[in-house]
Amino acid sequence: METESRPTPLLLIHGFPLDARMWRHTLAFFDGSRRVFAPDLSGLLGQARDFTIRDAASALLKWMPARKAVVAGLSMGGYIALEMWKAAPERFAGIVLVDTKAEADTPEAKAGRDAMAAAIEAGGVIEATKSMRERLLSPLAPQSVRDELLGIVSAQDASFLVACQRAMRDREDNVGTLPHVTVPALVVVGADDVITPPETARRMAALLPESHLDIVPRAGHLTPMEAPDAFGAALERWLIRHGL
Ligand code: MLT
Repeated sequence: METESRPTPLLLIHGFPLDARMWRHTLAFFDGSRRVFAPDLSGLLGQARDFTIRDAASALLKWMPARKAVVAGLSMGGYIALEMWKAAPERFAGIVLVDTKAEADTPEAKAGRDAMAAAIEAGGVIEATKSMRERLLSPLAPQSVRDELLGIVSAQDASFLVACQRAMRDREDNVGTLPHVTVPALVVVGADDVITPPETARRMAALLPESHLDIVPRAGHLTPMEAPDAFGAALERWLIRHGL
């Protein structure tokens, strides 16, 4: 039986249309100081190309190599983290919600998901995600981050991304879950995030009983890639403050 370990392990759940490489700076930041798990959801969900956010949460809970962890999710990863919380709150020592939201999709957003899924099926990942990619980063993002983003997106499997769009389209609204989150919560958002803007993060933080909100300058929707030092430092400060 595993006893509770300190420092607490960290589970990092990536966003769409990315993979675990989006956490490379965070992994380097905590290298040697704590156990950090950053799985690729595509690998974890195997060949399943028809899954829900709840399925992804349950696959992660089965896979997570620690009894208890601080669970951090970016955007789609945050949707999954909230479903994990509902399924198994006892596995959480804390929760970190990065550039994400608790609301379900509006009817317009659902239609947008179907359009993107169809575009990926018809024209491939690069073309279909072009306009989204332009909105993922802060206008201040350097070319190196733009190149890195393109490199990661280009490597994604089209059928997996289509399945992600459908899973996100059908996800549950978790606004009502937030007041029941009894572990410390850190909410992080890029100041220039236009997909889940600071106002959305503020609303989420206000509903979480024990939360801290960090708005990171010079970052858009991909704060851990765009402002890796500020993100790592904010996360570390919060972990230390809570003895995690
Ligand atoms: C993400 O970054 O995971 C996506 O923006 C999530 C979404 O499309 O809702």
